[in-house]
Amino acid sequence: MALLEVKDLSVRVGDKDILKGIDLSIDRGQVFVLFGPNGSGKSTLLKTIMGISGYTITSGEILFEGRRLNDLSIDERANLGIAMMFQHPPKVRGIKLSQVAHLLSEDEARIQELVERLNLGYLFDRDLNVDFSGGEMKRAELLQIILMQPKLILLDEPESGVDIENISVMGKVLDEYLRESGASCFIITHTGYIIEYVKATHGCLMLDGNLYCVGNPQKLFETIRDYGYEKCKECTVRHAE
Ligand SMILES: Nc1ncnc2c1ncn2[C@@H]1O[C@H](COP(=O)(O)OP(=O)(O)OP(=O)(O)O)[C@@H](O)[C@H]1O
Ligand SMILES: [Mg+2]
Repeated sequence: MALLEVKDLSVRVGDKDILKGIDLSIDRGQVFVLFGPNGSGKSTLLKTIMGISGYTITSGEILFEGRRLNDLSIDERANLGIAMMFQHPPKVRGIKLSQVAHLLSEDEARIQELVERLNLGYLFDRDLNVDFSGGEMKRAELLQIILMQPKLILLDEPESGVDIENISVMGKVLDEYLRESGASCFIITHTGYIIEYVKATHGCLMLDGNLYCVGNPQKLFETIRDYGYEKCKECTVRHAE
């Protein structure tokens, strides 16, 4: 049984149909990378899997370890083992990063190790994401995700706004977690930097709410870079086929 199965998923936001019949299957230990132009529906797919409100499923279903997610709340999905790094995480006044970390894990040594490796010590006693820089927010997000020990990690542009050194730090921490835990990962990226550190097994392309997929993420990235998204579509097959 696949870890995550998305079947014929269509999603509407407001009065706009954004996802148009997505089929996708992710097994344990697989790392899928999702490419696609701005506004094509990538974040919408991840948010719908996580259960963020405002994304109405008009057809299809999402299964996690065989269990139907469609009507479960975000916290129920998180408790099943799904965690998401947001493209724009919320600022939380009055709650420190350290308090959140200790809510997520009782393993003090693990918390300290990750705080050190992700260079978060100077942010630990500050309110979560309040006046954090773009890259600082991403590192703080990764800390929280790993402390949750999820089975499936959804990453929405994890390297966006992160400097080169910190992409390397984040990539290594993520890669180590994936190897040790056997967790799966679904990563949206425009630049492809993150896949220099995390061994991606599959590459997919989102175009106008449809998902196209090929096996090799590196090859897909190079085709997009050299010939553009539309060209790429010509030589891919619909993932469902
Ligand atoms: N709440 C909303 N109301 C209206 N339109 C929305 C809403 N949320 C998303 N959309 C629209 O849905 C489309 C898909 O958005 P989405 O955020 O999924 O794109 P994306 O592929 O993640 O793009 P990017 O690469 O820029 O992050 C966009 O045209 C966006 O404007
Ligand atoms: Mg997006």
